Amino acid sequence: MSNELRSKVQAVLPSVRKDLEDLVRIQSVSADPDRLSEVERSAQRTAELFAAEGVDVEIVRAYDGAPPAVIGEKKGPEGAPTVLLYAHHDVQPENDHADWDSPPWEPTERDGRLYGRGAADDKAGIMAHVAALRIFGDDLPVTVRLFIEGEEEVGSDTLVELLGQHQERLAADVIVIADSGNWDIGVPALTTSLRGLVRVDIEVRTLTHAVHSGMWGGLVPDSLMTLARVIASLHDDAGDVAVEGLHRGPAADVDYPEERLRAESGAAPGIEWIGTGSSVERLWTKPSLSITGLDAPKVAGASNTLVPAARARISLRVAPGDTTENALACLVRHLESHVPWGATLTHTVVDTGEATQIDATGPAYDAARAAFTEAWDGTAPVDMGVGGSIPFIAEFLEAFPQASVLVTGVEDPDTRAHGANEGLHLAEFERVVLAEALLLRNLG
Ligand code: BES
Ligand code: MN
Repeated sequence: MSNELRSKVQAVLPSVRKDLEDLVRIQSVSADPDRLSEVERSAQRTAELFAAEGVDVEIVRAYDGAPPAVIGEKKGPEGAPTVLLYAHHDVQPENDHADWDSPPWEPTERDGRLYGRGAADDKAGIMAHVAALRIFGDDLPVTVRLFIEGEEEVGSDTLVELLGQHQERLAADVIVIADSGNWDIGVPALTTSLRGLVRVDIEVRTLTHAVHSGMWGGLVPDSLMTLARVIASLHDDAGDVAVEGLHRGPAADVDYPEERLRAESGAAPGIEWIGTGSSVERLWTKPSLSITGLDAPKVAGASNTLVPAARARISLRVAPGDTTENALACLVRHLESHVPWGATLTHTVVDTGEATQIDATGPAYDAARAAFTEAWDGTAPVDMGVGGSIPFIAEFLEAFPQASVLVTGVEDPDTRAHGANEGLHLAEFERVVLAEALLLRNLG
C-alpha cells in the first residue's frame, strides 16, 4: 500500500516542483501595498491549482478590497471524515536583494535546496496539499476542505470575519496546518505549541520641535536617548523579559544540542545567549521581546539637533497559556511606568495573534504519528514547540472546538524563512508529501 503511494509521489513530484516554481515567481508580499495585485495573482494561481485537482474552489474575502483567501471542497467517500487543509499564499518581503545568492523571485536549485522567497514558507505548504490531492486523484480517502489565506504574514486581520462568513464550508473533523516544519533533516516533527504575538509601535516625545543640540543639550533630553532607556528597561541583566505579569510555561522535554543552536540560529561568533532556563523554554514556552524597527534620523547627515520624537516597533512573543490581552496590558503598564524625564509615550497596537497549545493525543494524532514514521522510514516524529506564531490556529479552534489540529510543515532548521536565501530542502519535501498522503489515507 505504502509502496504504491511512494511510486505515486515519484510520479507527481516533477509537476509539483514546476507548479511550486510558478508560485514562487509571484511576488505575493502582503505587507507591501504596491504588490497587492501579486497577492491577487497568487490567490488566483492557488485556486487554479486546486481546481485542476477537482476541488470546487472559490476566492473569498471578508469585504471588498480585503485580502483574498481560497476555500474549497472535494468530497471523499460517504461517511469519511472531513479534513481541512490550511496554508498561506502570501509571503514576507524579500528585503535587500544584495543579501540573496540568487534572485528571490527566481526559484533556483543549489545543493539539494530550492531557493526563493516563499519556496518554503508557505508555498511549499500549499504544494504539499496539491500533491496529496494529485496522488489520490478520484480515490480520495477523506473529504477535503481547503483554506489558503492571503494575509498570514501580516497578522490575519480579517480572519475572524472570514471564518464567520464561511463557517459551514470550513467545518472539519481534522485540520492539517502545513505551515511549520520538522525537527531536523531526517527527523520529522509534529508542532504542538506556538507562541502568540503582540506587536506595538511606541513613540517617545521630549520636545515640541527640534532645537540646537549645543544650545539645549544638557538640559533637555533628546527623544532617542529617552527611547533607548525605555527599550533598555524591557530586559533584566540576565536578558529575561522584565515586563511583570507575563506567563511562562514549563520546559518542553526536548534536547536542542548546543552545536545545533549555534549553527542554526545565525548567532555571530562570541554572541552570548540571553535569558534563563533551558534553551527550548526560552525559544518556545517563555515570552520574548525584540525591537524589529526604529524610526530615527539616519547617521549619514545627522545634524547637531535634539531629535524631538522617535519611534520603535516592539514584537512581543507570548508564551502558550498566556493571552495577548494580558500580555498587552502588562506591556503597556511597563512602558508607561518606565518613561524617564517626563517624556510622553504613546503606543499603537499593530496586531495580535493568540498562542496555541495542543493536546497531541487521540486518533488523529495516532494516524499522523503512524504516517510520519512510515514516511521517514521508521523514525517517529518529535513533538516540538516553535517560537513563531500562526494566529489562525486559535481562531479556528474557537470556531470549531471539537476539531483535531495537526501542525505539520515543510521547514527544516536551515530554511531561513523570512530571511535572505530562504530555501526548501527538496529531499525532505518529498517525505512531507508522502507523509501527507499517508496521513489522509490513515485518517480515511
Ligand atoms: N510559518 C510561520 C510560523 C512559524 C514560525 C512556524 C516559526 C514554525 C516556526 C508563519 O508564516 C509566520 O511567520 N507567522 C507570523 C505571524 C504573525 C504575523 C502574526 C510570525 O510568527 O511572525
Ligand atoms: Mn508561514
